[in-house]
Amino acid sequence: MQVEGCVAFVTGANRGVGASFVAKLLQEGARKVYAGARDVRAPAYRDPRVVPVDLDITNPQQVARAAALASDVNLLVNNAGINRLEPLLAANDRDAARAEMEVNYFGTLDMIRAFAPSLQREGGAIVNVSSILARVALPSMASLCASKAAALRMTEGARAELAPHGVRVLSILPGPIDTDMSRDFPPPKLPAAEVVDAALAALANGVDEVYVGAMAQQLAAGLAADRQAVQKSLAGVA
Ligand SMILES: NC(=O)c1ccc[n+]([C@@H]2O[C@H](COP(=O)([O-])OP(=O)(O)OC[C@H]3O[C@@H](n4cnc5c(N)ncnc54)[C@H](OP(=O)(O)O)[C@@H]3O)[C@@H](O)[C@H]2O)c1
Repeated sequence: MQVEGCVAFVTGANRGVGASFVAKLLQEGARKVYAGARDVRAPAYRDPRVVPVDLDITNPQQVARAAALASDVNLLVNNAGINRLEPLLAANDRDAARAEMEVNYFGTLDMIRAFAPSLQREGGAIVNVSSILARVALPSMASLCASKAAALRMTEGARAELAPHGVRVLSILPGPIDTDMSRDFPPPKLPAAEVVDAALAALANGVDEVYVGAMAQQLAAGLAADRQAVQKSLAGVA
């Protein structure tokens, strides 16, 4: 699909990758960008094409209101996500795994369900911002990995269900990105703009699953060659 002239909705639009999506969509000629954020005062978008929308994706009333307000959307960017940086068994906060599922899986699914009618009518696309950690279990943040894995499988299901209705559903799987979420990770980290560029390129060229950056691409290649070896290496036992 063409970004020029599109009407987009971006979740988690106030910072990080979401803010970069808004900026790039405007730059590429989007007709309107709904910027969903939990604090709509946060994004300082001066462009009159930006419509701020109060949105916590785990709040069903707010999701329904957003979909009703933005019924002209033909590009939904499900970017909002959390990473509580917790292992599974030795978690300090045992609610972290549930919170990650609520945002990364259920919130994203609710957004897709709410926006599907507009997207079907407009013949649009959905971009789900996933992670290479949807494909592997990194022990120090294994509950995040599980939530992203669930969201990746859900994305595949939504892709199959929506394809006959002319709606594409894309998964973007980057390695570490230079945002607040990965503040304490060592470099190298991808610039957020590189992730957005890869997503917009995939919209144009018809690819549905995109690995962004050398780390994600190498891990994906490793999984294809020897899944067990990659799992052992990440678990520190290889
Ligand atoms: N950073 C990385 O290394 C990395 C790597 C791979 C994939 N990703 C994915 O990239 C996406 C964007 O992350 P980021 O790096 O930009 O992280 P970030 O800087 O921490 O931003 C996360 C965004 O999600 C929003 N958000 C969190 N929970 C929400 C909720 N319940 N409802 C609505 N918005 C919510 C946040 O809003 P508030 O400002 O209100 O908290 C914020 O706008 C996420 O899906 C993440 O999993 C990130």
